[in-house]
Amino acid sequence: MTEVNLDTNASTTVLQATGLHRTYRMGRVEVPVLRGVDLQVQEGEWLCVLGSSGSGKSTLLHQLGDLDRPDRGDIAWRGRTLTEMRRRERETYRNRAIGFVFQSYHLMPELNVLENVMVASMVGHDPFAWRSMRAEASARAEELLDAFGLGHRFEHRPAELSGGERQRVAMARALVNGPDVVLADEPTGNLDTKTGDGILDVLAERHRLGLSMVMVTHDPTIAARADRVVKMVDGVVVEETAST
Ligand SMILES: Nc1ncnc2c1ncn2[C@@H]1O[C@H](COP(=O)(O)OP(=O)(O)O)[C@@H](O)[C@H]1O
Ligand SMILES: [Mg+2]
Repeated sequence: MTEVNLDTNASTTVLQATGLHRTYRMGRVEVPVLRGVDLQVQEGEWLCVLGSSGSGKSTLLHQLGDLDRPDRGDIAWRGRTLTEMRRRERETYRNRAIGFVFQSYHLMPELNVLENVMVASMVGHDPFAWRSMRAEASARAEELLDAFGLGHRFEHRPAELSGGERQRVAMARALVNGPDVVLADEPTGNLDTKTGDGILDVLAERHRLGLSMVMVTHDPTIAARADRVVKMVDGVVVEETAST
């Protein structure tokens, strides 16, 4: 029993940000938001990023999700930097390796629930390839929506759903391509506590099954559920100490 298998403790870095800088320019005013962010996410880790409003949490998450690009610095996915990736590889990173959950859901109002989820599996495939995948993608979307208690809502439009239901659709969309990491930007920020807890339970269950998560929040009670907490302060990320 004294034998220690070092591999059991070895963790793999899936996502690594190094020296990220991002400054927004509003006319002649420069707003430096990220001033050299370093961050590592381990395989299977639930990481929370705390910080006050305006501290740059969304900006950071958008860089990690390749929805916006840093002025300086880079992001590596399993050791490959986004800048060294070719276009197709980078699209695969954005569309398959990660799933993004937004505070305000960002569903397409003209699409029904099922279509909103399936659209994520369409991205990055030409129409011909997509035709042969369609049935399988539909089955996966239906399975996720069923699991999230939306089995009776496939035909509904987002406007006909509650906030909590909309966020469940958005989570199904984020998960339909089987990502390794979910990036969630205040996923419960627009929901009441009880509904929000339900959303967190869904994500926590996925995390238990191995999903890595980077969750942005300004709510310490949410951060308390994470494996590790970091904080955005003055444009950099610092480790949260146990006393705060
Ligand atoms: N597209 C943009 N153009 C100009 N300024 C922006 C833009 N996005 C964010 N900012 C500014 O950057 C700062 C950080 O914003 P954000 O990352 O959204 O913070 P948080 O998510 O922590 O509330 C804020 O001062 C915000 O006004
Ligand atoms: Mg934000």
